[in-house]
Amino acid sequence: MKVYKLPIPAVQYIQDPSHTATIFHGDCLKLLKALPSNSIDFILTSPPYCIGKEYEKGMDIESFKSLHSLVLPEVARVLKDGGSMCWEVGYHVNAATILPLDFVVHDLVSKIPNMQLRNRIIWAYGHGLHSETRFSGRHETILWYTKGDQYEFDLDPVRVPQKYPGKTHYKGPKKGEPSGNPLGKNPSDVWDDIPNVKANHIEKTAHPCQFPVALAERLILSLAPEGGIVLDPFSGVSSTGVASIRCGCRYIGAELSANYVRIAEERLRATLEGTERVRELNKPIFTPEPGSKVATAPSHFVAAQSTLPATDDFCEAKAAEPVDRMSASESLSCPPHA
Ligand SMILES: C[S@@+](CC[C@H](N)C(=O)[O-])C[C@H]1O[C@@H](n2cnc3c(N)ncnc32)[C@H](O)[C@@H]1O
Repeated sequence: MKVYKLPIPAVQYIQDPSHTATIFHGDCLKLLKALPSNSIDFILTSPPYCIGKEYEKGMDIESFKSLHSLVLPEVARVLKDGGSMCWEVGYHVNAATILPLDFVVHDLVSKIPNMQLRNRIIWAYGHGLHSETRFSGRHETILWYTKGDQYEFDLDPVRVPQKYPGKTHYKGPKKGEPSGNPLGKNPSDVWDDIPNVKANHIEKTAHPCQFPVALAERLILSLAPEGGIVLDPFSGVSSTGVASIRCGCRYIGAELSANYVRIAEERLRATLEGTERVRELNKPIFTPEPGSKVATAPSHFVAAQSTLPATDDFCEAKAAEPVDRMSASESLSCPPHA
């Protein structure tokens, strides 16, 4: 494992199959320019969202667009034919309005020939800021692209337990036989089983926005070839690197901040030694014991809730209100949950 301040030595280092991980301490565009075309097996990153985090220079959506208009064509160039690229993003927030950053990313990637969108994964998690003026944000998205139409997708290492493993075929020649895959089911494109890295998470470092290693592991295990080179151009504290090593891949990251590079270096060394603390991919989300203190509403919560109208009463009261913005025929044409 080595850190370089010049991009070419970092590239040469990781091209030697006997080396496992390297970080280029500098601007990812410099690293990308030094990488040969078709040389990287898998790319995973979470870029700066330009919302005023300590590591962000630009604070507006134009900064995000101009950075991405330079970076995305370069990552597509260095990705091997048949390789996958995953871009993990949330929302740009300005005053009270939000912009899903995957809209911006997809707009740019869709102009790059040969890059095909395979999934838009919703990563939902339980903790974050509480909003008073809209529903609190509790998800981000991961756009998965392949370079070309031929690509590898290995579902078996990332299958999750069946919800109803005893379910059987209810008709046909297999009637009565178990209908599920014994290895587990496809985790789907909605992931709500991986907690985000908040203060009490065992992977928490000084980085304000690191993503969990398990998120990277699910993507690497299913989309990267064993022993292949994984690139994270905005590598932060190298959560992608920790996952790459644990999954038997090699890793190259780029990061501007000296402090994050130092933490990343420690994490990668600890991973190579097998001592890095990581929350395992299949560990269930913590649910408090019923009756435990944290699961029990204080008496003033109960008192406050008793002052609210019951949901049914509330709906009946709403239904009795005159329809003023929608004609009766329009409202009747709506499906029940529209
Ligand atoms: C959202 S964070 C990534 C966190 C990372 N996924 C992790 O788990 O640690 C984005 C990172 O990109 C870095 N960064 C911003 N612009 C960069 C650039 N032009 N080149 C390299 N790194 C950059 C920031 O310092 C920040 O650490």
